[in-house]
Amino acid sequence: MGVGTGREDRMIIREMTQDDWLAFFPTYVEVVESGESYAFPSGQSVDEARGWWLESAPGVTVVAVDEERGEVLGSAKTGPNRPGRGSHVATGSFMVSSSARGRGVGRALGEWVLDWARENGYAAVQFNAVVETNTVAVQLWQDLGFTIIGTVPEAFESRTHGRVGLHVMHRRL
Ligand SMILES: CC(C)(COP(=O)(O)OP(=O)(O)OC[C@H]1O[C@@H](n2cnc3c(N)ncnc32)[C@H](O)[C@@H]1OP(=O)(O)O)[C@@H](O)C(=O)NCCC(=O)NCCS
Repeated sequence: MGVGTGREDRMIIREMTQDDWLAFFPTYVEVVESGESYAFPSGQSVDEARGWWLESAPGVTVVAVDEERGEVLGSAKTGPNRPGRGSHVATGSFMVSSSARGRGVGRALGEWVLDWARENGYAAVQFNAVVETNTVAVQLWQDLGFTIIGTVPEAFESRTHGRVGLHVMHRRL
């Protein structure tokens, strides 16, 4: 799938391979260790982290790749938010390399997840834990039609802001 304009004409989004995981791992580390957006364990090895990011069916993990340069720009994962009677609602997670941000990669990955969820029959997409001080992400998800259902107070220990809220964000499909 080609998306965006300019440089992003060369960007495709496709399922993550094991080689892609190795190429993406530095971005995973960068995002987790920044301490501003994910409550994943700190200091994971490439093998420890794999299971936290690579989804198996019915979920999927994708990469956004600059085809010309063979560069992994970012990744998203999606799948059912809950098993069983909650499995009609999808969820998603996103990480873009800091060197690739602000070029539409995050938006393209967000749109890809919405399209995937719609095509796979989900009724809605729910993000369970969007850090309220992560204003780029909150704004992007609102632009893509998500609303803030509520905010769990002081649920995330931000590296720079201390304890801040986690938004539950939701979009019907
Ligand atoms: C959130 C994230 C996925 C967005 O990815 P991205 O590739 O930078 O996003 P885009 O380039 O598509 O930009 C989305 C919007 O944010 C704006 N934006 C991006 N970076 C910005 C910045 N540093 N300051 C202000 N606005 C910014 C863009 O202008 C764009 O708005 P527009 O489409 O109206 O112009 C990325 O910043 C990231 O990986 N952050 C760390 C992990 C994270 O927060 N994941 C999401 C958790 S819910």
